[in-house]
Amino acid sequence: MRLLGIETSCDDTAAAVVVDGRHVESSVLASQDDFHRKYGGVVPEIASRRHAEVIGTVVEQALEKAGRTFEDFDGVAVTVGPGLAGSLVVGVAAAQAIAFARDLPAYAVNHLHGHLFANYLENSDTPEQAPPDGPFVCLIVSGGHTDLIHVESPAQHRILGRTLDDAAGEAYDKVARLLGLGFPGGPPLDDLAKSGNPRAVEFPRSLIADGSYNFSFSGLKTAVRYHLDAHPDDAVSRAADIAASFQAAVVDVLCAKTLRAADALGVGTVALAGGVSANSGLRAELRRRGEAQGLRVLVPPLAYCTDNAAMIAAAAFYRGNAARVPAAQLRADPNFAW
Ligand code: KG4
Ligand code: ZN
Repeated sequence: MRLLGIETSCDDTAAAVVVDGRHVESSVLASQDDFHRKYGGVVPEIASRRHAEVIGTVVEQALEKAGRTFEDFDGVAVTVGPGLAGSLVVGVAAAQAIAFARDLPAYAVNHLHGHLFANYLENSDTPEQAPPDGPFVCLIVSGGHTDLIHVESPAQHRILGRTLDDAAGEAYDKVARLLGLGFPGGPPLDDLAKSGNPRAVEFPRSLIADGSYNFSFSGLKTAVRYHLDAHPDDAVSRAADIAASFQAAVVDVLCAKTLRAADALGVGTVALAGGVSANSGLRAELRRRGEAQGLRVLVPPLAYCTDNAAMIAAAAFYRGNAARVPAAQLRADPNFAW
């Protein structure tokens, strides 16, 4: 089953061709970072205009790279939410037009399901890696979400906990701004942390032992701000130590809760998903602590951690009829619940 995936929920315009929810024939992405950087965050009006300008070309490129034409598809899958309304409607309109014109089945995909199903895509880093085969715990960490999910089967999942305030990626972006690292802040902060001492400053690990699976990162972000207010020189002379200490606090809480959930639920696998799963510290630490606990630790290839359309096609394949809708009923749903 070959699906065309389309993703425009935030500031990346993406299209992909995926066979059987696993084999990626192409995955094309037009990043808008250069357009938003000077504003220090995503400007919704700029994002939707830019999507509208490039969506046609991005879809064409995905077909071209895969060596396919519209005749070769069994359906079109698109992110309908959650996300920015003006951004979502561009992808949805494109998918709807293709579905109508080619009489193709349409699949309405939840963006967060997309992140989760990135774990089922063929991993070019380790092609032999099998997709998850039994129940697992998935930590979805992105710019807008920090959700811990019990995945009983591809069709059945339940939210164990989520952030009570800032998402992990949001905390990264805000702390990166305090350190003058630009936007998006996750990748440069991750790089800077590599040369710092993670024990230089003991930042708070909110809710780490509260027994719930919820998260809270706004106190940590505020602690970094207070620290920099009290020691203004640290933003320059000890930026790497601050970055490493902040990252250690985030990673510690994320790993502790994910591994405790796996233990309590008796599952043998944990998986990462979402933009923050590109974080080198989180990938390494979850692997180290998870494997020490006897768990299989799945981490999607880097390109499928941040927003992309291959994960949307994969989610549509695995969700099947649960995601299928008549093309006329495809609608952007900015608040689409899990
Ligand atoms: O999933 P994603 O691409 O978009 C959303 O759905 O939000 O996630 C974007 C988030 C941003 O907050 C970005 O700073 C963060 O993921 N991010 C990272 C890294 N790469 C991206 N955070 C920490 N370390 C990274 N290497
Ligand atoms: Zn995302």
